[in-house]
Amino acid sequence: MNLLIRNGIVVNANASGPLDIRCRGGKIEETGNMLEPGDQEKIIDATGCLVFPGGIDPHVHLQLPTLNGRSSDDFYTGSVAAAMGGTTTLIDFVTPEKGQALSEAIKLRKLEAEKSILDHSFHVSPVEWRPGMEEEIKVCVEKEGLRSFKAYMAYKKSIGLEDNALFQVMESVAASEGVLLVHCELGDEIETLRERFGNEGKTGPRYHGLSRPAILEAKAVERLVNFVEKTQCAVYIVHVSSHLTLDVIKKARAKGLPVYAETCPQYLLLTDDKYELKKEEAVKYIMSPPLRKKVDNESIWAALSTGIIQTVGTDHCPFSYDQKMAGINDFRNIPNGGGGVEHRIALLYSYGVLKNKISLQQFVTLTSTNAAKIFGLFPQKGAIAEGSDADLVIWDPELQRTISFRNHHQNCDFNIYEGFPVTGGAKYVIANGRVLVDQGVFSTKKVRGRFLQTHPV
Ligand code: URP
Ligand code: ZN
Repeated sequence: MNLLIRNGIVVNANASGPLDIRCRGGKIEETGNMLEPGDQEKIIDATGCLVFPGGIDPHVHLQLPTLNGRSSDDFYTGSVAAAMGGTTTLIDFVTPEKGQALSEAIKLRKLEAEKSILDHSFHVSPVEWRPGMEEEIKVCVEKEGLRSFKAYMAYKKSIGLEDNALFQVMESVAASEGVLLVHCELGDEIETLRERFGNEGKTGPRYHGLSRPAILEAKAVERLVNFVEKTQCAVYIVHVSSHLTLDVIKKARAKGLPVYAETCPQYLLLTDDKYELKKEEAVKYIMSPPLRKKVDNESIWAALSTGIIQTVGTDHCPFSYDQKMAGINDFRNIPNGGGGVEHRIALLYSYGVLKNKISLQQFVTLTSTNAAKIFGLFPQKGAIAEGSDADLVIWDPELQRTISFRNHHQNCDFNIYEGFPVTGGAKYVIANGRVLVDQGVFSTKKVRGRFLQTHPV
């Protein structure tokens, strides 16, 4: 269907102002003032609304396999929830079994993702270093069109890498001109603390937080930056949670090193006092890294406005309450992760833009444009421009809602932002020129997103 969106205020990362948008064949064909309707064009009146490029969530884990079963949103429910919140592109992960070829794991993950109603791509995780891995990484970049990889410094018992393996992965990713996402927490030190707490019978959810102190994130980033200096590998530090880490990133960027950083709404808006609630409530907030202090929230907000952090993802990885309760008597058995893909944009708008912590253009940069640039999707995604995909969010800035599991679309029977009031919401969401959300209501079940190859940056 061809669309003409009229009378809205268009906000791009680099400019904003009144602009009409004509969409044809899934692309933005034309932007300008007072555009005249063509034949058979559906007109959407955006009077009083802001128009943003569709959100890009560069960090989601849909139907992630864990020892406690899969994370509870699959590619269909997770993508519907994302769309309802104004996100039109998702980047998930390919996490192979040990010994499994990266290309085989990519093939299987692509099949799982076919249910997504949104365009999607993947970061690929080399979970071990083995002969031929350098070539496999090269094949990902050159043949699969996947140039972002993910390494875990934590979780050494399963998918985490030892330092020498991490270093070799970094050399290979650099040689292929890719980018490496890194989960920065020192795995050995965390394991020692987990075991110590376990042996001392300190097994309540609060010990999850205590076994993963902020210093272990900052130290991991320090080690990573040292490897960046030696390999020149571009790295993207996921889910930055602590002010200590920001200092390390700031120094690395001042040296001109290719270090990008992401945070997530939970590290802006929630604090570790959740772990002091009764155990049955605290289990809901178990994630890695854990929630931190108010001072960390505040420093991370500041880092968004000064450009130390480039993106806000969600690390969306919800589990049902029953799955979480599997570890009620031992925090080590609680599946890690929380849901937020539906709320990222509204939370950042309400608590960032409306509280004057970030500007509207920074908000677009953080929720869409920078992810497109870092992961090789720009200008196909991340901009309202002629020739870009027609991925648009028509945002009603007056809408008032309260986040709750009772009305969310995420497949989870609780919500870590339960009771948060938000102002502003997606009135229309358009992906590839198709209206997915119409007057705030999800409008189609039939649509399917595309797998996206990424381009050199
Ligand atoms: O707690 C988290 N973050 N769960 C998802 C997996 C990961 O560590 O990114
Ligand atoms: Zn994650």
